[in-house]
Parts: sequence; C-alpha cells; structure tokens
Amino acid sequence: MLKILAVHGSPRIGGNSDILLSAFIEGASSKGASVEKISLYQLKFSPCIECGGCDETGECVLNDDLTPIYEKILSSDVIVCATPIFFYSHPAMLQAFFERFQALWCRKYRLNEPHPFGKTPKGLLLGVGATKGKKLFEGLVRSFKYVMDACWGVYVGGLFFRGVDEKGAILKFPEHLEKVRELGVAVSTLPEEEWPVERSASP
Ligand SMILES: Cc1cc2nc3c(=O)[nH]c(=O)nc-3n(C[C@H](O)[C@H](O)[C@H](O)COP(=O)(O)O)c2cc1C
Repeated sequence: MLKILAVHGSPRIGGNSDILLSAFIEGASSKGASVEKISLYQLKFSPCIECGGCDETGECVLNDDLTPIYEKILSSDVIVCATPIFFYSHPAMLQAFFERFQALWCRKYRLNEPHPFGKTPKGLLLGVGATKGKKLFEGLVRSFKYVMDACWGVYVGGLFFRGVDEKGAILKFPEHLEKVRELGVAVSTLPEEEWPVERSASP
C-alpha cells in the first residue's frame, strides 16, 4: 500500500494550505493510499542546532516531537508539503523541519548509507501565496528539492496558487481544490511521470 506523509507547514490551522492538503488527502485516500498528516505548528520541536551530533551517527541528538517523525519520513513513498509563502520563503517551522533532515543527509552523504528500506521517496508541494509574483515559489522549491535529496528521494513537482490571502479564500476556487484532489487520486493510481504537477523549478 502506498504510504504518504502529508506535512502542513502553516501556523493557520484550517487556512488555505490546510484546505488544499485536505483535498489532496481526500483524493489519495479514496484510492486506498495510507496517509498520515502532521501539522508542524501543533508540534514542539527545535530547528537544527548545528551541534555536529549526527555527523558520525546519522541520528539527531535532539529529543522532541520530531524524533518519532524520522521513522515516518523513511517509511513513506510520498512526502507532500502544503505551505503558504512567507516573505518569498516558507514559514519558520517548515524551515526548522527541513533543517532536521541534516541527520539523514549525514547518513546518505557522510556515512554512505543507502535508504534503509530501499525507497526513493517522491516529494510534492502544494504552495499558496497572496501575491502574483513570478518567482513566488522559487525559494520553496529550491529548498524542498534539497530536502528530498537528503532523504534519498526526489522532488517531483507541485501545484501552486497565487492571489489567495484571507483564511479560507481558497474555497472561492473550487477548481483549484478539484485539481489538488485529482492529484491525490493520480498519486495513488498512476506512475509518477503521469502525475499532473507543475515540474518547473520556478513555477
Ligand atoms: C508572515 C507572512 C508573510 C507573508 N509573505 C508573503 C509573501 O512573501 N508573498 C505572498 O504572496 N504572500 C505572503 N503572505 C500571505 C500568505 O502566503 C497567504 O495569506 C496564504 O494564503 C496563507 O496561507 P495559509 O492560510 O495556509 O496560512 C504572507 C503572510 C504572512 C502571515
């Protein structure tokens, strides 16, 4: 069974990215995928403290709400992150989450370990922002690509929505929600090459 880790990166619970993520989960679950959702702002965890503790072990020394998440990251076939754009980047707790992939980066690149279960996790983004900036999602995509590489995975692409600001404003665009729901269905039923996503580095 396809295992999906759905990561919500906004402090606004029930906001636009949360609604998008729910549409994705609904689509994916309807075709039998097993989806686990985590809302980063409901967890207590620290960013990387650059202590070097994982250099030789590949294990993060921090003991907090992210500690049990490493196992979920490694057992997932797909990692989907839904997030708003904050200052042309992503919210601080999503950045903190990304930084904690350093332990996995060490396992892959310092210790030359393979993925423990031989997987190549696929990374997807659901991004939303208020403005229409051409390069609005560029920073997010760049970071997430590197994060996926650190966990032996690959960034596939995403769906990105501009001009969406107030809480729940995404509901005024049922076509966007349908697109995201269809992506969830496709992820559960089709090979990655056929997933209906924007694959550009600067979507
Ligand atoms: C701290 C902060 C920074 C933001 N920075 C940007 C930005 O740089 N560009 C943009 O288009 N929207 C920006 N926004 C707007 C949000 O991306 C937008 O309201 C989004 O729909 C929020 O999604 P959410 O409900 O999932 O949190 C910012 C909002 C906040 C609170």
